[in-house]
Amino acid sequence: MSNRRKFIKSSVYGGLAIGTASISTMACTNQSTPGEKPIVISTWNHGMEANAEAWNVLGSGGKAIDAVEKGVMVTEADPDNATVGIGGFPDRDGNVTLDACIMDENDNCGSVAFLQNFKHPISVARKVMDETPHVMLVGEGARRFAVDQGFKEENLLTPKSEAAWKKWLLNQDYKPKINVENHDTIGMVALDAEGNLSGSCTTSGAAWKMHGRVGDSPIIGAGLFVDNEVGAAVATGLGEFVIKICGAHTIVELMRQGRSPMEACQEAVERIVRKYPNDYQDLQVGFLALNKDGAYGAHAVHTGFNYAVKSKTQDRLIDSQFYTG
Ligand code: GLY
Repeated sequence: MSNRRKFIKSSVYGGLAIGTASISTMACTNQSTPGEKPIVISTWNHGMEANAEAWNVLGSGGKAIDAVEKGVMVTEADPDNATVGIGGFPDRDGNVTLDACIMDENDNCGSVAFLQNFKHPISVARKVMDETPHVMLVGEGARRFAVDQGFKEENLLTPKSEAAWKKWLLNQDYKPKINVENHDTIGMVALDAEGNLSGSCTTSGAAWKMHGRVGDSPIIGAGLFVDNEVGAAVATGLGEFVIKICGAHTIVELMRQGRSPMEACQEAVERIVRKYPNDYQDLQVGFLALNKDGAYGAHAVHTGFNYAVKSKTQDRLIDSQFYTG
């Protein structure tokens, strides 16, 4: 086994357990659902609070692009969330490095990667989209841009995440853990009352990753893709495997060919399983998709992935379907 693969197989993904979901989940549903708009869907149990904020925009006739930015900012600001924003678990050297991207109905997109010391990478990504001719800024360049745009630098390593890192340092013991926190990257996609789609994705990435590692979440086409003619998709889980199949773009193209959101997510999951038969048992990837009609669906490599839905008629957490062989 190559060193590269060995590292992936042995890495802890997502961090340490902080308890199971307190919100009861609905049984998995065999989507696609009938469509409705406006609607917002997002990954994991933290999506419930994020959706509520997004709904403040969508429910009053606002734009999907504003809803998906405001929604995931709630998760970024939660210091108890170890996978997104402040309080996110650091890399193996103790640095919290954040990745995020955002995309609107006109194919406008913005992204930041390897960004340190800013609580809201999604808003920096939005500024990249709105204020620059570029799609992606990384590292020091992203930091300088954020400062120029008036974002405040702050330490994102909380006493809790620092303690977790120091505990990890004792053994530096890499053992795969799947779904241990029942949350991970937040990805959100929304369809507004005008029928326009947008999406966002933000994460602190893999806990104890190598310094400089970037996952799928800031990569347009991997962690997030929106095509206003067809639909939108987001990913969560071990980003290396999402990147390898260009996950979100693959799902949107499958929907274009006529698959339902759930069928498209399922095909992407099965592609990972098929192509990486020696790896998939030890990793989780979840996909979530919304089509132009407001129908949605999800699929994951393993059980445990759930997602939140909010519309005029729905406000719930749903257990995703998953690969069963
Ligand atoms: N999906 C988040 C990451 O792998 O960084």
